[in-house]
Amino acid sequence: MPESAVPVLTIDGPSGSGKGTISRAVAGELGWHYLDSGALYRAVGVAAGWSDIDLADPAALVRCAFDVEVAFRDAPSGEPRVLINGVDATDELRTETAGAAASAIAAIPEVRAALKDRQRAFRQPPGLVADGRDMGTVIFPDADWKVFLTASAEERAERRYKQLSGKGVSVTLSGLLREILARDARDASRAVAPLRPAEDAVRIDTTGLGIDEVVARVLALVRD
Ligand code: DC
Repeated sequence: MPESAVPVLTIDGPSGSGKGTISRAVAGELGWHYLDSGALYRAVGVAAGWSDIDLADPAALVRCAFDVEVAFRDAPSGEPRVLINGVDATDELRTETAGAAASAIAAIPEVRAALKDRQRAFRQPPGLVADGRDMGTVIFPDADWKVFLTASAEERAERRYKQLSGKGVSVTLSGLLREILARDARDASRAVAPLRPAEDAVRIDTTGLGIDEVVARVLALVRD
């Protein structure tokens, strides 16, 4: 089957919009592959940190983006484990520090270009759910279905707070809200692949909606 014949559903949106949870659930229901593109950007940031690469050194970051080995392994918890160069780095990848590093390096056009083919390679039968910021606009512009998830910044901060404090991470709601607003601004204002809905994306505001409800809406889109 040619790659372009493999169906793709893209789910884009800002951090905390529920993309990860929704995309994984939808992929599970459909029996499709799942691409967590944010994890790739985070992995480059983490691998760069391990190698003492300066986040202000674009050439070294691009090399790192090409060289880093990232593997996803299914886990009973539902959230796949992520191995960087063979080392399980799932917990480090989810920290706010890794998120901030990912957001900074994601603004470098050559890093984005370096990760393009790697992302497109996830398009394998029987289908792919691709989660990120530019899945519908840049990586899979020919996707069969495109969704853009949003939620108020306050609700996104609250979700992140529950998620992190549930894992025993010490954070404050106001600090998370500040970080989310700063990250939104950076992701939306960068020159290359800024966070914006594709023109043909279906927008779903998840504020006040439960996970099951959003999953059902997305599945209805694909199955109709
Ligand atoms: O979805 P996430 O929080 O794991 O993403 C981490 C950062 O990576 C986010 O701030 C922006 C960047 N990113 C991106 O620029 N393009 C993507 N397709 C996915 C993530």
